[in-house]
Amino acid sequence: MCGIVGYIGTHKARPILINGLKKLEYRGYDSAGIATIENNNIVCIKNKGRVKELENIDKVNSLGGTIGIAHTRWATHGKPSSTNAHPHLDNSKTFAVVHNGIIENYSELRKFLTDAGYSFLSQTDTEVIPNLIHYYYLKEDEKNTDKLACAVRKATLDLKGSYAISVLCSLEPDKIIVARKDSPLVIGVNDTEKYIASDIPAILEYTNNIYILNDGDLAKLTTDSITFYDNDFKIITKVPEVITWDAKAADKNGYEDFMLKEVYEQPTAIRETIGIRLSHGKKCDFSDINISKEYLSNISSIYIIACGTAMHAGLAVKPIFERLVSVPVIVDIASEFRYREPLINEKTLIICISQSGETADTIAALKNAKAMGCKTIAISNVIGSSITREADFTIYTHAGPEIAVASTKAYTSQITILSLLAIYFAEVLGLEENEMLQNLKNEILELPSKVSIALENTDIIKAFAKRIYKEKDLFFIGRGTDYAAALEASLKLKEISYIHSDAYQSGELKHGPIALIEDDVTVVGIITDRRLVEKSVSNLQEVITRGAKTLVVTNQNIDEKLFTNIVRIPQVHPLLSPVVSIIPLQLLSYYVAKEKGLDVDKPRNLAKSVTVE
Ligand code: F6R
Repeated sequence: MCGIVGYIGTHKARPILINGLKKLEYRGYDSAGIATIENNNIVCIKNKGRVKELENIDKVNSLGGTIGIAHTRWATHGKPSSTNAHPHLDNSKTFAVVHNGIIENYSELRKFLTDAGYSFLSQTDTEVIPNLIHYYYLKEDEKNTDKLACAVRKATLDLKGSYAISVLCSLEPDKIIVARKDSPLVIGVNDTEKYIASDIPAILEYTNNIYILNDGDLAKLTTDSITFYDNDFKIITKVPEVITWDAKAADKNGYEDFMLKEVYEQPTAIRETIGIRLSHGKKCDFSDINISKEYLSNISSIYIIACGTAMHAGLAVKPIFERLVSVPVIVDIASEFRYREPLINEKTLIICISQSGETADTIAALKNAKAMGCKTIAISNVIGSSITREADFTIYTHAGPEIAVASTKAYTSQITILSLLAIYFAEVLGLEENEMLQNLKNEILELPSKVSIALENTDIIKAFAKRIYKEKDLFFIGRGTDYAAALEASLKLKEISYIHSDAYQSGELKHGPIALIEDDVTVVGIITDRRLVEKSVSNLQEVITRGAKTLVVTNQNIDEKLFTNIVRIPQVHPLLSPVVSIIPLQLLSYYVAKEKGLDVDKPRNLAKSVTVE
């Protein structure tokens, strides 16, 4: 949930590190710090607040080293403060460490180090790491030419929990050591420059030749070389991946905020996600995952496991899987699944959805399911992310980097790829002649243009946002897949505009929540299923009668006179409709947050990828 950047090369490290931190601020932004080596000394500067504030410190501007590490933090252990910010130094100020993840046994390690004469300045779990490295470094044989890497490896062997670390040492000022376990870390290379990052977009403008470290890997970087070691400290060879994301994808590209840019990127993201999986008149192609007719005919259920928006994508595709594959689909929250004893076995197919591929709960749930004999499929947007290494099969969405904390294009891409997967399963099961399947395939190919149309219709949304931005409570209602979209719309509003909201199945209102409806309360209704129009309209009339003001998002033939605010979206099959109906509601949350003057991309208390429990 924090961000790491590192650099070793021939240029000044400071601008590269600060630039990288700005690209990573979406991962955490309550404090930031930087360390470089100058005249064989570590110079470390840290500050509470945003990267911009760190950048404006005079001492930061005068940093001249060509090797350095930097960090932007989202507090877990210890409140946001300059002392708790990274990098952390050992007592002798010889080692500087930046760390993502959580050291679960840090109290034990603190005690061990305190007994050995070390003291601590911060409340963080991280501060044990530089001191442990120092402890082991002193024990290394003087003749050992790989002292630093050995000491780091020994220190990491003592750590329980998750870590991605970068280490500087003033006694070996020409090296950076990096290591990872359960927290991502990559190394980018071009000629004599080497870049380290916890997330590819931070270094994409310098190189797209990226080494992805696996769990247990450690690497020693100098300006001339990189040496990779495995968990047993054996030297290994690695091949860089060539990342095809455009560096501009990690820029705002003229938009005021990343969120708005990403909302408008949805037609492209969906088109890229469909990619070669489907073309007109053809069957869906998922030949890269080994799922046979025999296996599919024998499964007894499908579990879709995820968190937050990704879980809402699961809810949105539950009906299409149930309709086409004819097995019960259970959508489960990863943090709940992992601590229950779910009724799963080798006849259960598990699909885990994670945009970042780094969500700790989702990865743990997948591991549990795998241990119980289930086949697992990961849906992720990030190549080489942790979940992709755990799952039996990985299917990528191709939404491009999602920087804004609020997930938008990942959500619609996830629904798209999962709908294609449901169709593929039906085809594998021999239902390819089914008329509904043909319709759904045609409709999926039309999703990018329908989303483009939905994105044009912003006037009513902007005006409605101006009317409601001071409210304290809002309700979203819908039936079937409209309810799934309502849940996601409600989450978007909460997270970026801090307005409390609830989502209900329209038919449930009268079983309790309608008691909350009084004069001027806002209710947003979604109506995209022809079969349910009358019932949904009646539910909205019930709240209007009780004084509510309403906004209706619909593609049905609903009388203008019934509602004051109607947002018209293109016709789309109800099984796919959240991809289109969510668009005006993503924009509603965006414009409400803007009216309130909030930082849309970096909402309070949130971070882009949640690598802790
Ligand atoms: C909401 C949001 C979160 C994430 C959730 C899962 O806008 O971004 O709810 O969807 O933390 O993240 P991933 O998909 O990376 O596992």
